[in-house]
Amino acid sequence: MKKTVEAKGPCIRPMPSAIVSCRDKDGRNNALVVGFASNVSKKPAMVMVGIVPTRYSYPMIKESGEFVINLPAEGFEEEYHYLGFHSGRDEDKFEVMNIAWEDGEKVNAPLLSACPVTIECKVVETLKPGTHELFIATVEAIHCEEEYLDENGNIQWDQIPLI
Ligand SMILES: Cc1cc2nc3c(=O)[nH]c(=O)nc-3n(C[C@H](O)[C@H](O)[C@H](O)COP(=O)(O)O)c2cc1C
Repeated sequence: MKKTVEAKGPCIRPMPSAIVSCRDKDGRNNALVVGFASNVSKKPAMVMVGIVPTRYSYPMIKESGEFVINLPAEGFEEEYHYLGFHSGRDEDKFEVMNIAWEDGEKVNAPLLSACPVTIECKVVETLKPGTHELFIATVEAIHCEEEYLDENGNIQWDQIPLI
């Protein structure tokens, strides 16, 4: 028998374990953990991330209109938790955790080298229905570790030990 409960937090579970990385106009990199992340369109390929305006990352994405969604795998738990509980306002998170990164090919934001899948995104629209601003973005490029691709270049999602 089910009981009716109050909606106290996000009620669609599990939430994805994603890390959004971004860069400000002075070239400073930052990244935060984002559970509000979703596919929104197949063709064109579009995604969405929800960012609370008080996050240090928020004005970076708002101003640049660009970000990267990094999908972390097992072995990256310590960095993942750190990025979800510390703010770039207080410290350079990449430096503190010695996080390796490389430049995006299509967007001006860093890709986290240790994450097997990284998705470069450009914002096309935003919505603010409540606590989170929803950044709806086109997928400009997807990078995946070669070992997780089949012979046709398809990502074998079930092979990736995502967090
Ligand atoms: C599991 C988890 C999920 C989170 N999901 C979101 C989210 O969807 N949107 C958001 O703005 N913050 C989310 N956060 C909080 C940010 O990651 C956290 O406040 C971070 O320190 C912000 O970093 P920044 O100030 O450097 O941008 C989440 C944190 C955790 C641990």
